[in-house]
Amino acid sequence: MSAVDSPLNQLLSQIDPKRLPRHVGIIMDGNGRWAESRGQDRLVGHREGSRSVRAITRLSRKLGLQALTLYAFSSQNWQRPAEEVAGLMALLREYLVGERDEIMDNDIRLTALGDLDKLPRMVREPLDALMAESAGNGAMTLSLALSYGGREELLMACRALLAEGCAAEALDEARFEQRLYTAHLPQLDLVIRTSGELRLSNFLLWQSAYAEMHFTDILWPDFREEAFAHALLDYQARERRCGKTGAQVRLVSGE
Ligand code: IPE
Ligand code: IPE
Ligand code: MG
Repeated sequence: MSAVDSPLNQLLSQIDPKRLPRHVGIIMDGNGRWAESRGQDRLVGHREGSRSVRAITRLSRKLGLQALTLYAFSSQNWQRPAEEVAGLMALLREYLVGERDEIMDNDIRLTALGDLDKLPRMVREPLDALMAESAGNGAMTLSLALSYGGREELLMACRALLAEGCAAEALDEARFEQRLYTAHLPQLDLVIRTSGELRLSNFLLWQSAYAEMHFTDILWPDFREEAFAHALLDYQARERRCGKTGAQVRLVSGE
């Protein structure tokens, strides 16, 4: 079979490039179970998961996605055993150092969402360096949600608004959004969660108000190009009514 008609290319050819989600968020879940089911240490699953990160980032860039946000470590994940947290931090550092060239060569801007002050220096330093170095890149924004929680973010935004003396009458959605970690990102159109769990686990609570949800049983280390293509096709099959009737929406889209 030639590369042109591989199953992946057949799937990709069905994706309408004009109707891509502006911003995809992924809750990358199931690394631990992937490893445990093989009788291996959970960190083996996290490492394999970082290969999925690479594959999905590459394909996102190739397809022309504007923004991809990956939930890599939640505010609540600090409660995990110290050994697992340390392993995840070491892996994050390895990722930031190892992916530097790929990110720069592909004109990708790297940003991070979350309480970054909580991260150890060994992560914070390469993270700050790559964010600064890639700040002028414009083809796609790759954001890592690190030490991130949606409730924590909403409280942080409220505190910032109070600290700047924002009057109650002056507060609207646009001003509120300026204080969120995602102020620089387009609207979140699609949230994907792997591993069969049907919850948001504190991910982008404000931003997901009208995002489409795609849940799959595939564990994150097994979530590769074909699974992502299926998620995008699933998204493109949805009717996004945002409170309106189906007839109203079809009238505007000219169907
Ligand atoms: C997701 O995989 C990665 C992080 C939360 C850091 P998990 O580590 O949650 O894997 P499971 O859910 O235990 O299988
Ligand atoms: C959500 O996964 C956080 C990340 C993927 C980073 P968790 O595994 O921490 O979520 P719960 O505990 O199943 O809700
Ligand atoms: Mg999990």
